[in-house]
Order: sequence, then C-alpha cells, then structure tokens
Amino acid sequence: MVSREQVIEALAHIYDATYNRPVTELNLIKDVMVKPDQAAVTFVLTADDEQLKAQYRQDVEEAISRLGVADVHIRFRPINDFEKQELAALFSGDKAGEKEKNPPKKEIPTHAPKEAPLLSPESKTQFIAVASGKGGVGKSTVTVNLAVSLARLGKRVGIVDADIYGFSVPDMMGIETRPALVDKRIIPVERFGVKVISMGFFVEDNSPIIWRGPMLGKMLRNFFSEVEWGELDYLILDLPPGTGDIALDVHQMIPQSKELIVTTPHATAAFVAARAGAMALHTNHEILGIVENMSYYETSDGKKDYVFGRGGGAKLAEELHTELLAQIPLGAPDNHVAEPDFSPSVYKEGTPTAGLYLEVAQKIVDKLG
Ligand SMILES: Nc1ncnc2c1ncn2[C@@H]1O[C@H](COP(=O)(O)OP(=O)(O)OP(=O)(O)O)[C@@H](O)[C@H]1O
Ligand SMILES: [Mg+2]
Repeated sequence: MVSREQVIEALAHIYDATYNRPVTELNLIKDVMVKPDQAAVTFVLTADDEQLKAQYRQDVEEAISRLGVADVHIRFRPINDFEKQELAALFSGDKAGEKEKNPPKKEIPTHAPKEAPLLSPESKTQFIAVASGKGGVGKSTVTVNLAVSLARLGKRVGIVDADIYGFSVPDMMGIETRPALVDKRIIPVERFGVKVISMGFFVEDNSPIIWRGPMLGKMLRNFFSEVEWGELDYLILDLPPGTGDIALDVHQMIPQSKELIVTTPHATAAFVAARAGAMALHTNHEILGIVENMSYYETSDGKKDYVFGRGGGAKLAEELHTELLAQIPLGAPDNHVAEPDFSPSVYKEGTPTAGLYLEVAQKIVDKLG
C-alpha cells in the first residue's frame, strides 16, 4: 500500500495557477487518506475556474494512478478566508505570478503558520484583556457576558480563557463539547455565538493532553497559532487575577490589546485593582474602563443595599483616568439546568443585568469602532 507521503510527493509537480507554486508547497492538498488500492484527497482551489479544475482532476488522477492506486477520489473545495490570509502572509510584498524571479522570503510551512493572522499587524481584530487585582471579583463573569453581549450586537467574537491553571470559561458558559481537530487545526467551540478556547478543553483528570510543560507563554501562543479563529471583530481575554507572568505575557504578546478592569466596590479590591491598571499603563495599554461588579443587592422592594461598600469603581476610574462603564448588581443568572441553553454565568437576554452588559458592549463598540 502507498503511504500518504508518497501520494503528496506524487502531486508535487502540479502547480497552482494563481500562485504559480506546487500545490503541495502551498498546502492546498488536504485530508490525504490511503487504503489498499484507494486514495482520497481534498484539493483546495484558489480560483473559481471549471476548466482549471478539470485539468487538476486529470493531473491528480494520473499522478496517483501511477503509484498503482486503482481508485482515486478527489474532493474540490474553494479556499477559505483563513487559508487566503495564510497565503497572503506568505507572499506579502510579492505579487502572484512572479514567484520564480522573486521567491517568497519566508520559509513555506508544511501546515500551521508560526504567526497567526489574528496576531499579525494587519489583523483588524480588537483585543480586550479583562483584568483585576484580586481574584474572585468577577473577571470571568464579565468576560463571558461582555462577549455574549457583543455577539448579541451582531459582532464576531472570540474568548481566550487565558487563565491557564484556573480556567473557568467553559463551565461558566455551560460548554460540554470539545474543540474539533481539522487538518491539525483546533476549531474553537461556539456557544451563544461566541468562539471559545480554554485550557479546560485540553485537560482530562487534571493532566494536560495536548500541551505539556511549564511554558505558559507557549500555551497562550498556541491559543492563537494553532486555533482556526476565522475573522473576528473582538477577542476577549480572560486573564488570571493579579499582575503575574501570564498577564505580562499577554501584554507583551498582544501590544495592541486594550484593558478592561473589574473590581468590586470594596476599597481594598479597588486599591489592588489599581495595580493591574498600573501594569497596563506601564506597558502602554489603553484602559477602556472599569466594570464594578457585585455593586449592590437589590431588595424585593427595589432598594439598593450596598453590601460590599460603595465607591470602589468610581475611585478607581478616577485614579486611572478612565470611565466607570457599569455597576453590576449581585445576583446569579436565573437559568435552569434543564434548559438547552443552560449556563451558570450567562445572563439571559431581556433580564436587567443582561441589559447592563449590553450597555457596556455598546459603549465599547462606540469607543473602538
Ligand atoms: N454579580 C454577581 N452576583 C453574584 N455572583 C457573582 C457575580 N459576579 C460573579 N459572581 C460569582 O462570583 C464568583 C467569582 O466570579 P468569577 O469567577 O467571574 O471571578 P474571577 O475574578 O474570574 O475569579 P478568579 O480570580 O478566580 O478567576 C463566581 O462563582 C461567580 O459566579
Ligand atoms: Mg476567572
């Protein structure tokens, strides 16, 4: 029986008409499967041209038949946006059709590119890192509800649960599935219209399956380079609490990211949150604003009971020369386990707290465009 490698090698003489490079070098041959006497490949088309497609079909059939395979299946599909970007990155500053005179400067990868398009300077995605000083103030809650609200406003949104050890986003959103792997690329899980990636997806019985090792920064990078995000308007990063290594890594890895700071109204929480803010400013990251969470408890007769004190968010906003975007009351979402869209932490559309989050989302859209 022939091997996958032999099949790929046999196609190396076929040139893509748009880029004038071997289709195998451009990684346009996907899903190569071999069985005794049978081979199947997916051929990615960079142009919509029936005549060309017929030519490719003939070339592929001939090449694989020459290996002694009787039954050859070819599936054609158009190139997707991600693959287009991948090729564009490869040939940036270098027009198609001039490859021979002017070969690509970068090495051609066999699969995933080293730098994800999402992190490339041309990327139009807005990054928002959600930070706090203290733990447990509601960063993850704010992350998921902001993300869902942006999606409710029609935006394309992703979440990176950057809390590698303390991940909680999948659970909070009620995600029970795991990402699929397609062509060695990780497809994020989609929930409430938001694409999510979290270390939680790759951990079983507390032992990492896909990524091992102490290199947190490397893991984070994988969240970008190995994940098929597609086009996103906003990517929200749920940071671990405080000003530790991961927070610093994120700031360095995504210099363009803006920061949202979460605090409770308690003076101490706000005081500690100021340090997270200072870190953002030190590393030249704009602070979008403050979300004060657990601001008050609304009693049944409509009065506000400021159980954790008052003014922390406003004081912090003043200190960091930014805006207090919202004061979110105490109260867990009123969701039920039996509902198909159950999630412990996402406030249902139409509820007062969901309304507050929608306002935060709208303010952010207005600020960032
Ligand atoms: N407004 C709220 N009312 C009631 N409970 C809340 C509210 N906001 C958050 N919680 C709850 O408080 C707990 C901590 O919230 P969350 O996990 O979002 O905080 P965090 O800052 O991300 O924590 P960590 O630092 O551990 O990552 C969770 O159980 C969450 O459900
Ligand atoms: Mg958290």
